[in-house]
Amino acid sequence: SGGSGSGSGSGSSAKDYGLINAGTLTVCSDVPYPPFEQEDKSSPSGFSGFDVDLVTAIAKKLDLKISIQVTNFDSLQSGTALVAGQCDMGASAMTITDARKKNIDFSDPYYDSLQSLLVKTDSGIKDINGLSGKNVGVQQGTTGENYAKQHAKGANLVQYPSDGELWPAMQAGQIDAILQDQPVNLVHEKADSKYKIVETYNTNESYGFAFAKGEKDALRKDVDAQLKALKDSGDYKKLYDKYFTA
Ligand code: ARG
Repeated sequence: SGGSGSGSGSGSSAKDYGLINAGTLTVCSDVPYPPFEQEDKSSPSGFSGFDVDLVTAIAKKLDLKISIQVTNFDSLQSGTALVAGQCDMGASAMTITDARKKNIDFSDPYYDSLQSLLVKTDSGIKDINGLSGKNVGVQQGTTGENYAKQHAKGANLVQYPSDGELWPAMQAGQIDAILQDQPVNLVHEKADSKYKIVETYNTNESYGFAFAKGEKDALRKDVDAQLKALKDSGDYKKLYDKYFTA
């Protein structure tokens, strides 16, 4: 599978893993999704965020360079982008779910998350029962979309292909609420006091790195081993504190 490498060798001790580009870990990620992935001109890869920094640290330990490929989340979570060989793995704040496991092999969990509801502070919306007849923005293919479908009774769901469209739509008054992962809503709440998270939902979600099913076992196992090493060394905690401790 894959194997269009340069053939010149990376000159390092990196394993091959059947990478799309030898010596480079090509990673699909749906940007923007701060604090997990965002463009960052000051970073060598052109991107930063908890996912990006974590996967960069893992690549470094595997003697691989890193290349981030911006990829639509719905095509990533369905497995399509991974099977099509657009990247070696996905790092996109992707929740490990049973449905996704049909098409994707996941790494060990690397982050635990919640769902949440962000509204305009003066909207009068107090909880998910107050969304009837309201426009609720979600990103297509996400667990937030699923949660809204199941629990936001009578709401008009507005589905956006990119998460980056949600916040501008909210500020423009096109949507009344955003239902998505809590850390991402928290970025907006902190940025603008006119908006607040009124509820969080303990959906027991954990994020995993994503691999085309059955095709990347050696890579996935080494990613898991390096993830564990980063946890044991305290480097994972440093990264966690950088992004999630106020
Ligand atoms: N955790 C949620 C899910 O897996 C949302 C992830 C969206 N990620 C992104 N980079 N836009 O469905």
